Amino acid sequence: CGIVAYVGQQDALPIIIKGLKRLEYRGYDSAGVALLNPNGLTVYKKKGKVSELENHLLSQENLLSKIGIGHTRWATHGEPNDVNAHPHYSSNDQFAMIHNGIIENYDVLKTDLINKGYKFHSETDSEVFIKFIEDIYANNDCSLEEAVRLALHKVVGAYAIVLMNKEEPDTLIAARKGSPLVIGVGDNEYFLASDATPIIEYTNQVVYLDDYEIAVIRDGKLQIKTIENVETNPYINQLEMELEAIEKGGYEHFMLKEINEQPRSIADCMRGRLDAQNGRLVLGGLRDYMNKFQNADRIIITACGTSWHAGLVAEYLFEEFARIPVEVEYASEFRYRNPVLSDKDFIIAISQSGETADTLAAIELAKSKGATIFGVCNVVGSSIPRTTHAGSYTHAGPEIGVASTKAFTAQISVLTMMALKLGYKRGTLPENRYMQLLSELETIPSKVERALKMNDKIHEIAKEYKDARNFLYLGRGYNFPVALEGALKLKEISYIHAEGYPAAEMKHGPIALIDEEMPVVFIATKDSSYEKVVSNIQEVKARKGKIIAVVTEGDTVVKNMADHVIEIPATEEAFVPLISVIPLQQLSYHIAVMRGCNVDQPRNLAKSVTVE
Ligand code: G6P
Repeated sequence: CGIVAYVGQQDALPIIIKGLKRLEYRGYDSAGVALLNPNGLTVYKKKGKVSELENHLLSQENLLSKIGIGHTRWATHGEPNDVNAHPHYSSNDQFAMIHNGIIENYDVLKTDLINKGYKFHSETDSEVFIKFIEDIYANNDCSLEEAVRLALHKVVGAYAIVLMNKEEPDTLIAARKGSPLVIGVGDNEYFLASDATPIIEYTNQVVYLDDYEIAVIRDGKLQIKTIENVETNPYINQLEMELEAIEKGGYEHFMLKEINEQPRSIADCMRGRLDAQNGRLVLGGLRDYMNKFQNADRIIITACGTSWHAGLVAEYLFEEFARIPVEVEYASEFRYRNPVLSDKDFIIAISQSGETADTLAAIELAKSKGATIFGVCNVVGSSIPRTTHAGSYTHAGPEIGVASTKAFTAQISVLTMMALKLGYKRGTLPENRYMQLLSELETIPSKVERALKMNDKIHEIAKEYKDARNFLYLGRGYNFPVALEGALKLKEISYIHAEGYPAAEMKHGPIALIDEEMPVVFIATKDSSYEKVVSNIQEVKARKGKIIAVVTEGDTVVKNMADHVIEIPATEEAFVPLISVIPLQQLSYHIAVMRGCNVDQPRNLAKSVTVE
């Protein structure tokens, strides 16, 4: 979910609506706002996208307000409809609240409140939360701020909340635990949001609220306290994000813009870190932990979704170059498995958003067992970089399309640099080979640029297969994770069922699916498993499957076998994923557009999953 709030001298509604649109990639099931003016505290909410809410507001009056809160939802408890949308009211309509996160003990709290006579209109845990605060407020004869503080001691789960009080027209109260909240500090005005994107056009001064902190903005002043009631000094950070980075810049979709940005985002990720000519590779975040990293017994990589696929690529990289055993774990499984961990384990947590709840929980668990945690994140100042021991940002710039593209290649770029550095330091990667690899790595942005030129051809292929009901993606070695990622991209945005598989494993199951209707995408670049993949292509061809192959420029063997080939520039085997994933991103994009799907905001998905 995304939350936005404003208090100051400007008209709050346009600021909130614009902010919600910027945050819509976090969830788009329903949206709502609460405004406060002499006519009272009013909540407006609608199922669907922020534009539905906007339409609804066109017929409303008295919308002028200097304060307001807004929310765009990704449903957890209760289906997406008008009633379950946020903000939620207290029973007496005195308070309104927006909430991002999940309250785990809402059931117990709700039963208690029902016994006390409270009525519930929605199925959400958030309505329970606000009524629980209301109950404390009513029974303790205290301020709202104090009631919030007391309530936070009792609720279990994750939250970022912002409340308004009818009796205090210049006050916003916010708190966080486990869900992000950023406070933009303007000139006598404040902007609160789930991330900085709605804030940057107004101010570049932000305060990141920490877990168990409560912010009270009253009379133009910001005060932060812990839930133990101890005042803390707000630390003001300077944002470096540019407004143009979060706008479409002439592209039809954010996803297309982000796919095409990759030559630059990969270069940005390497800038200042890689200098092949002088044999230099510097990752500032690693400096203090290089010793631990070098001497680790094991590297455990934890992540979700596309980031997990980047982790799989890294498994090949670290094992090949640094000869340290690697395990790649879904954060959601790892966190509940009571994993065997020690202080000799080096954990790498990968996350675009830096907010994924499962990844955060996996980090906390590993930390509690003494392991060292290194974050590879894209969003500066997000929760994961603030909780890990050290880390490297991917510097891909804001990624708005829900399906991850440029963040993936930037993650792999960082992980590649880490693996090379580690191999070199450990002596498992000889100096001359190391130097060779650094030089090749530097050419990747221009090779990605060249790969992008296959776009028109891919557009033609997409036309032919847009109505397929299934797709299979096959690759081996470094291209196995790329096959998984290609399949994920397609299913996320076009809703075509797709499976990624190690090419050789096909004969143990998926081969049964192959007939003349089945498109099979092979990533068959010239590498150590090329001959084997060629055999796998034969197996599919013999069963009349349709073959789309991503091959190395100049390939003739596969060209004679496949129905379509997409050529990409040659590179070191270990760097192929950075290039071979590009045509797969383009293929899924074109198919989704042709099928009329909402590419940037696919159904049911959210960019940043801050609930487990
Ligand atoms: C969601 C997004 C995916 C992303 C995954 C992990 O499912 O839709 O694109 O890969 O979360 O997110 P993270 O921010 O941790 O990389």
